Amino acid sequence: MSIDEYKPGLEGVPATLSSISYVDGQKGVLEYRGIPIEQLAQNSNFLETAYLLIWGTLPSTEELTSFEQEIYQHRRLKYRIRDMMKCFPESGHPMDALQSCAAALGLFYARRALDDPAYIHRAVVRLLAKIPTMVAAFQLMRKGNDPVQPRDDLNYAANFLYMLNEKQPDPLAARIFDVCLILHAEHTINASTFSAMVTASTLTDPYAVIASAVGTLAGPLHGGANEEVLDMLENIGTVDRVANYVDECIATKSRIMGFGHRVYKVKDPRATILQGLVEQLFDEFGSDLYYGIALELERVVSDRLGHKGIYPNVDFYSGLVYRKLGIPTDLFTPVFAIARVAGWLAHWKEQLAANRIFRPTQIYTGNHGQSYVKLDDRSTPLPPGLLALGQEL
Ligand code: ACO
Repeated sequence: MSIDEYKPGLEGVPATLSSISYVDGQKGVLEYRGIPIEQLAQNSNFLETAYLLIWGTLPSTEELTSFEQEIYQHRRLKYRIRDMMKCFPESGHPMDALQSCAAALGLFYARRALDDPAYIHRAVVRLLAKIPTMVAAFQLMRKGNDPVQPRDDLNYAANFLYMLNEKQPDPLAARIFDVCLILHAEHTINASTFSAMVTASTLTDPYAVIASAVGTLAGPLHGGANEEVLDMLENIGTVDRVANYVDECIATKSRIMGFGHRVYKVKDPRATILQGLVEQLFDEFGSDLYYGIALELERVVSDRLGHKGIYPNVDFYSGLVYRKLGIPTDLFTPVFAIARVAGWLAHWKEQLAANRIFRPTQIYTGNHGQSYVKLDDRSTPLPPGLLALGQEL
């Protein structure tokens, strides 16, 4: 195999056949099971979209009602999981808490029967139901409060905001949050989904699959970017400092968070929808200082970097929506995970249906024929300031 065949980051290398979602990065198109994201954002709700992604078709009224009821019934956490969470340090990142909790579900639901459709169905319901409760519970516990129990009369999105803020959300805020969940539910095989698929291909349990995807989503080049966007807007501070900020980033080759995408070379269609949601929220609940900075940033980045296909991605406007909904900055990525669980589960199911364990190859660039040197015979100089093992102080 020649080094020319190596594609860093596997760019453009097909790694699966999939019928879950479709992206055209040149035209700014995103479809879930063939349905344009704009239509789903306009007409669907998160659980219906999750059903579509996971089971492949839009549900009938009966199927949707029964799916929703099952999920509502499984939203509570076992007290042992809550007790485990109480031992987490409050300074820890909520994504680490979520990853630990997702993995812990595997301890409590230890039966593994990947060839049993009823097992698959229950795992899907459990994960969709419990992940939001975990995120909200960690938020309350780190403030020293008891978690709030889910409310059976509230839908998926409204219930999460209720558990998080301890008050029933305004219907418009809940609907806007629901649309955010739809927009973040799936996006072909990006890093976290690929991570889920690799883990799934070993035939481990679904909780390990979701835990590994959560860990991958946490990084600042992936889901973690939305958190950094808000920090960046705060640091810029005023509209007149935007152009200097962008020029400095370009000069120092630093990334401008919330811009650029491996696939989209135009504005991400989800960013366009999210921008509309920001405007709806601000019209209803009052404006935000950072929206003006964001608009100017988009203008300047498009001007300076548009020729490279650098435009706002999904993370650029989502932070502004979440902030207005009262979601703390370090919960932005866990909220992304709540939605993406739908896509990860869809890919888990698809992977199981035609499984072959992932085992790519590598191009070895190291040495051959080296001799082992005994420890005492090695004379590696120590870095300055580091004492040799056992050396007297
Ligand atoms: N700011 C400034 N320049 C950028 C940015 C950016 N955000 N993104 C890409 N570029 C430039 C690179 O410097 C590079 O320029 P060069 O060709 O002159 O060296 C060129 O665009 C291509 O960049 P790559 O790193 O090759 O693009 P890649 O496809 O590997 O990266 C990524 C995609 C990781 C998303 C990148 O655009 C980035 O780091 N963006 C900022 C982080 C971010 O917003 N992540 C969220 C992505 S969406 C999501 O994961 C949900």
